[in-house]
Amino acid sequence: MPHNPHLPAHFSRQNGVLFLEGINLHTVAAEHGTPTYVYSAAAISDAYHSYHTALLGRTAKIHYALKANSNLSVLKLLHSLGAGFDIVSGGELACALAIGAKGADIVFSGVGKTVSDMQAALAADVSCFNIESIPELDRLSTIASSMGKTARISVRVNPDVDPKTHPYISTGLKENKFGVAKEAALALYQRAVKLPGIAVAGIDCHIGSQITSIEPYVDALDRVLDLVEAIEAAGIPIHHLDLGGGIGINYEGAGHDVPPLGAFIAAMLTKIDARGHGHRPLAFEPGRSIVGNAGVLLTNVEFVKPTPYKNYAIVDAGMNDLMRPTLYQAYHGMTEVVVKADSTNAPTLYDVVGPVCESGCWLGRDRTLSIAENDTLAILSAGAYAMTMASNYNIRGRGAEVLVSGDTAKLVRPRETVATQIASQLACL
Ligand code: LLP
Repeated sequence: MPHNPHLPAHFSRQNGVLFLEGINLHTVAAEHGTPTYVYSAAAISDAYHSYHTALLGRTAKIHYALKANSNLSVLKLLHSLGAGFDIVSGGELACALAIGAKGADIVFSGVGKTVSDMQAALAADVSCFNIESIPELDRLSTIASSMGKTARISVRVNPDVDPKTHPYISTGLKENKFGVAKEAALALYQRAVKLPGIAVAGIDCHIGSQITSIEPYVDALDRVLDLVEAIEAAGIPIHHLDLGGGIGINYEGAGHDVPPLGAFIAAMLTKIDARGHGHRPLAFEPGRSIVGNAGVLLTNVEFVKPTPYKNYAIVDAGMNDLMRPTLYQAYHGMTEVVVKADSTNAPTLYDVVGPVCESGCWLGRDRTLSIAENDTLAILSAGAYAMTMASNYNIRGRGAEVLVSGDTAKLVRPRETVATQIASQLACL
């Protein structure tokens, strides 16, 4: 029997074929080609609602971090459910506004906001700028004053807590470029209240991504609450607490279990209440935990290549389509889209690799699969940080995106053609 990882919610196998909601993924691959990212509207809604349920009875806003998946149809769906957006660039701002979000729904994070980013965000009246340095605060004050606007701000505090995740996605350690050291935060607030065009709104903290244990959140929160008390004792009121994103997901087959989302939130609420801050409005900036397990990347097996050392399955998706394995040594579950009852393809151990001319172009190592040339493979947990991190390396067009809802599958972004990559340059010759 082929090795089948446990499938995330809304995936099923019917007569050997992999389905997402009511949609046959083999048919999607036949119709739209590969590589193609397919997302489930029901899985996204469920994940959004689990935040909602965990925060019932609280004043809380979910600002979906759209860097995880910025497909406009996904954003529109989340907006219709009541989500706001966490953005980190003028481009992301434009995407949020394009699907009808208002400035009031948007918070602006990121360590390197440019002058034009700030101008666009002020023009849109975003609800809060999360500030990460003195020069950023000073620049925002200058621009807001010149536009006759007031920028509401939070300071993003770096609590110096180890989130115990991959070093490239840890952000809350003192050696990281992110946030303002907890020792320096009060001075920044004292500067902020004296600056024109600035109004203090809250405090913000985001310690990393794919965090799989609760403890770092509670430790970071303790430090943030210490600061809130110190800042308020200095006469500066703090309105909301933005607790960032970062809650991890199960990458099926990766061999670890992430506590349920509700357990992360419950632990944070318990701490907030125990320290007497239960009255404060809360904000979260989740990305991966909303979309990560709602998506799959379909890819075609081009060749099966045995060598004396390894068996390679060479597929048509590469590191340019899914950069996470090579960049973070990340594990993504994978499974055959069609399991044939009479398969003659014995389960075999493969390294699943892409076509890009780099040894780093691999998607999975030592996977047991029953596959042959032209079979379709599904790479799981590809709803977050997959398409948004895709590139055109080797002049490869970025994959198509399909959104599934019940029995409907809609192409929500066509495959990028080589012609579009060439046309803009030809115009410059
Ligand atoms: N808020 C801020 C300020 C962030 O920088 C991030 C992610 C989030 C929220 C959302 O974090 P999430 O809930 O998705 O963990 N490319 C990496 C992940 C990079 C995360 C960057 N910041 C990966 O593929 O694992």
